[in-house]
Amino acid sequence: MRKNIVAGNWKMNLDRNQGIFLLHDVLERLSVSNKTEVVFAPSFIHLYKASKICKSINNVFIASQDCSVNTKGAFTGEVSAEMIASCGAKYVILGHSERRVNFNEKNDLLRRKVDHALVNNLEVIFCCGESLDQRESGVYFEWIKKQISESLFGLSAVDFTKIVIAYEPVWAIGTGVTASSNQAQEIHGFIRKTIEERYGRKIAQSTSILYGGSCNPSNASELFSQKDIDGGLIGGSSLNADDFVSIVNSF
Ligand code: 13P
Repeated sequence: MRKNIVAGNWKMNLDRNQGIFLLHDVLERLSVSNKTEVVFAPSFIHLYKASKICKSINNVFIASQDCSVNTKGAFTGEVSAEMIASCGAKYVILGHSERRVNFNEKNDLLRRKVDHALVNNLEVIFCCGESLDQRESGVYFEWIKKQISESLFGLSAVDFTKIVIAYEPVWAIGTGVTASSNQAQEIHGFIRKTIEERYGRKIAQSTSILYGGSCNPSNASELFSQKDIDGGLIGGSSLNADDFVSIVNSF
């Protein structure tokens, strides 16, 4: 059975006090019987404290927004997967388009980051998605298949079960333009079929595939009702407790 997951990617927002305040604010509003897995992805400065706060809460976990491709040593400013795991995080987000575009992260580098993450017992929320040009020129299926296959399809079947996919069309991120539920479902179905071709039906059916890109309380339930959409990776709306909890409750 695949899990429904709603993950909040705080990006580079919220100082120590603001972050912990928002975390408590969301936790107070979450229903105890909540069946959806809730994930917070704050910046590195929050990982340890946020993990401690969430440790005893059912179905709530912490993710890092990135990890280094290196294991240790003279890499000033970098944070390794081992360090992130030692803070208590369950996941690391890899391949977000903001890292692909602003930090020139390519499929091969991401493949190596995925390997480091898994070796250190972190599960991976792996992002993929096309630009507006790619959507308009109709090459997006091939592009997404390439992103997934080049970074993930060297994994063993057992390791692949530690992967969550997030489809985030770049043109929908932070723009207020959401993919329609049909557009999103089309790609999610395609991603699941691509996984099935490589790993078989059982693994494809148990992989959670999240949608990200201007997902908010007014469009979440329609998106989440699609058969291959298992939740969301939320940016802007994860910074507001009411909005984020409303999205969590949208299944
Ligand atoms: P927005 O929800 O702000 O569009 O951001 C989506 C995103 O990039 C989540 O990783």
